[in-house]
Amino acid sequence: MIKKCLFPAAGYGTRFLPATKSMPKEMLPIVNKPLIEYAVEEALDAGLTEMAIVTGRGKRSLEDHFDISYELEHQIQNTEKEKYLTDIRRLINECTFLYTRQVEMKGLGHAILSGEPMIGNEPFAVMLADDLCLNLDGDPVLAQMVKLFKQFRCSIVAVQEVPRDETHKYGVIAGEPMRDDLFRISTMVEKPKPEDAPSNLAIIGRYILTPDIFDILRDTPPGKGGEIQITDALQQQAKDGCVLAYKFKGTRFDCGSAEGYVEATNYCFQNVYKNV
Ligand code: UTP
Repeated sequence: MIKKCLFPAAGYGTRFLPATKSMPKEMLPIVNKPLIEYAVEEALDAGLTEMAIVTGRGKRSLEDHFDISYELEHQIQNTEKEKYLTDIRRLINECTFLYTRQVEMKGLGHAILSGEPMIGNEPFAVMLADDLCLNLDGDPVLAQMVKLFKQFRCSIVAVQEVPRDETHKYGVIAGEPMRDDLFRISTMVEKPKPEDAPSNLAIIGRYILTPDIFDILRDTPPGKGGEIQITDALQQQAKDGCVLAYKFKGTRFDCGSAEGYVEATNYCFQNVYKNV
């Protein structure tokens, strides 16, 4: 079934400057764990084991994070502190990591296309690590989407309701409801003004994509902001066939913004970190 997860992580993270000047946004910690580690954990918990990360210049620490540090292992072996490495050891043992570089930052769609050699001709997940999604009482968000994919076998995007005055930050969809939490997409617009938004259902950083998306992306001209937009490619895929939008169960924190980052930190400190 779905084995591979693509993590576009090449963006500049300008909203988090100066922290992101020489450090990837995806390495920002929520309490003691970097954003990318939460995302890889969510993918593994959904049954995916091949992690394909699209990086860029200055992002080498991402690769080091998912590698063994022999010096550190040696230092803390058989000490109290060994417990801090339990989670990352599980990921290193159970997953395979692949990396490629997006040489020019031409947008999320372009980053996904840069990952094609690591994915090939099979359905795959895409996760944006700066969207931290938690569902402490049930299945993680990507696991919910993998279940849906098994049933419907087409591309699926995760959506959430946002206030009207925030539609300009997201891709926004409109579609036919199939049930309370599922829509067949008819229209998608990237970062619309509130008056142009077809609804208040905004796409967040979890996708399952069928591999025909690569051919569509190759033919997708630059859109909003001069970038190749995944929303434009998905709009085409929805026209040609079917794309679903799923209102997931759980909470999403926009950790690419200072406000969301602080909220996530407080939430994780209270509900995750303290319980370990
Ligand atoms: P964002 O729109 O959040 O951009 O990208 P950004 O550069 O990360 O952050 P800001 O807005 O400048 O603060 C959404 C996701 O797409 C990836 C980013 O790494 C992020 O995970 N991305 C974006 C790429 O990998 N390549 C790109 O060319 C653009």
